[in-house]
Amino acid sequence: MKRSLMVLALAASATAVLTGIVTAKDEANKDVLPAGSVSRTEGLEAWKRIEAVVTHPRCANCHVDAKAIPIWTPAGESKPRVHGMNVHGGDSRIGAEKIACATCHMTSTQANEPAPSPPRAGIDWQLAPVEFIWFGKSGAEICAQLRDPKRNGGRDAVGLLEHLRHDASLNGFIPHGWAPGAGRTTPPGTFEDHVKDVALWGAAGQPCPE
Ligand code: HEC
Ligand code: HEC
Repeated sequence: MKRSLMVLALAASATAVLTGIVTAKDEANKDVLPAGSVSRTEGLEAWKRIEAVVTHPRCANCHVDAKAIPIWTPAGESKPRVHGMNVHGGDSRIGAEKIACATCHMTSTQANEPAPSPPRAGIDWQLAPVEFIWFGKSGAEICAQLRDPKRNGGRDAVGLLEHLRHDASLNGFIPHGWAPGAGRTTPPGTFEDHVKDVALWGAAGQPCPE
C-alpha cells in the first residue's frame, strides 16, 4: 500500500514536470520570430542588450569555470568577489563534496528576502555546468558559447527561448535575477525584455560581435 502510494506520488510529480516542459514549449513558440525576419544589425543590437544581462553579477556569478568557486556581489556592492565562507561547488557543482549549496540557499518559490539572507529559487541552488562559463569572459566569447549547441546544453535558438520559459515556470534562477531581494542590483530591463531580445537575436541568425 505504502509502495503504491509512493509510485502514485512519483508519477504525479513526473507529470507536473512534464506539464511544465510542455507549457514552456507552447509559451516559447509564441516568443519565436520567423528566421530571417530580423536584420543582422538589429540582431547585433539585441545581442548588446543580452550581453549586459549575462555579464551582470546576478547572472555571471553562478556561471563560473572548473575551479567551481561561486562569486557574490552582496547588497550595496557592485563588484563581484569570491563567495565568503570558503564555499566550493566541486565537480558536483552543488557543493556535495564539502558543504551543499542547499544548506543555506533554500529551494523555495517564496520571494527573495533582502541581503544578507542567501538567495533562493524554485530549483536547487547550484553552479551552472562548466561549459557555460560567463564569469570573466568577454561578450564576444559568451556570444560564441551561447550559440554553440556543444557548449550550451544542445540548444538551438528556439531551444534557448524554451529554456528561459521553462526556467521561469519553475521559478528558477533566471527570473530570480530580476527579483533578487531588496538591496541587490538587477540586470538592465526586465525578464520579458530579455526573452524578446533572445528572440530577435535568434531570428537574425545569432550574430556575434567580431
Ligand atoms: C544559482 C546559479 C545560477 C544563476 C544565478 C543563473 N544561472 Fe543560468 N544556469 C544555471 C544552471 C545550473 C544552468 C543549467 C541548467 C540547464 O541547462 O538545464 C544554467 C543554464 C543557463 C542557460 C542555458 C544555456 C547556456 O549556454 O548557458 C542560460 C541561457 C542561462 N542559464 C541564463 C541565465 C541568466 C540570463 C541568468 C541571470 C538572469 C542566469 N542564468 C543566472 C545556474 C545559474
Ligand atoms: C554557509 C552558507 C552558504 C552556503 C553553504 C552557500 N552559500 Fe551562496 N550565499 C550565501 C549568502 C548569505 C549569500 C548572500 C550574500 C549577500 O547578498 O549579502 C550567498 C550568495 C551567493 C551568490 C550570489 C548571488 C548573487 O545574486 O550575487 C551565489 C552565486 C552563491 N551564493 C552561490 C553558491 C553556491 C553555488 C553554493 C554551493 C556550492 C553556495 N552559494 C553555498 C550563503 C551560502
